[in-house]
Amino acid sequence: MMKTSLQSLLCLSSLLCCTTNRALSASLTVSPSRSQLFKGEAVSLRCEEDDSSAGWKLRRNTTRNTRKECDADWGISAGSSCKISVTFPSDSGVYWCESREGATSNSINITVTGGPVILQSPVLPVMEGDDVTLHCKTKTSNLPAGFYKDGSLIRTEPAGHMTIHHVSKSDEGLYKCHSSGHGESPSSWISVTASKPQSQ
Ligand SMILES: *[C@@H]1O[C@H](CO)[C@@H](O)[C@H](O)[C@H]1NC(C)=O
Ligand SMILES: *[C@@H]1O[C@H](CO)[C@@H](O)[C@H](O)[C@H]1NC(C)=O
Repeated sequence: MMKTSLQSLLCLSSLLCCTTNRALSASLTVSPSRSQLFKGEAVSLRCEEDDSSAGWKLRRNTTRNTRKECDADWGISAGSSCKISVTFPSDSGVYWCESREGATSNSINITVTGGPVILQSPVLPVMEGDDVTLHCKTKTSNLPAGFYKDGSLIRTEPAGHMTIHHVSKSDEGLYKCHSSGHGESPSSWISVTASKPQSQ
């Protein structure tokens, strides 16, 4: 009897220890997978979690308010996903997943424009060494355009798209495009991460 209760106590404490020590994690993915959307487009956000019982929910900061949960204000949620059926420029902001206990995922910047031009750029960080293609486009086609990084023209591309080969940390920055006759896209931040976790 004594032995069993000791065993169950040990069992319980190791359970508690491991439940509290386990790092909860989730990663946020978005579809369509780009940082800029035309007003009126739909967007779906998904928390890919390793433990659905942790209660991961989408939250966002916009210029209007902060930390607003999907259901409470701006989207339709289903489990740990959230959908905006019709976006407005006021949906521009930073989005992330947060567990009930306050653990957070990666965050994603989304910009919704009422204008005619977007820069199609990766919404998730790009791996060092990969190639990245940026498109300057209207709803229907690519535009001949100039591509800018941190305010300076880096390339003019008549076909409306530009590939950066073997991306490195120095390619990180704020990108936009401009097409004469159509106008300018919003700016989006492209971040670059190391290809492999550093090992000692
Ligand atoms: C959202 O806004 C809050 C309050 O200003 C801030 O503390 C938090 O860092 C912001 N979150 C992100 C992911 O930017
Ligand atoms: C979001 O945009 C801000 C400002 O452009 C930038 O500093 C930040 O790193 C971006 N966050 C992500 C996750 O790309």
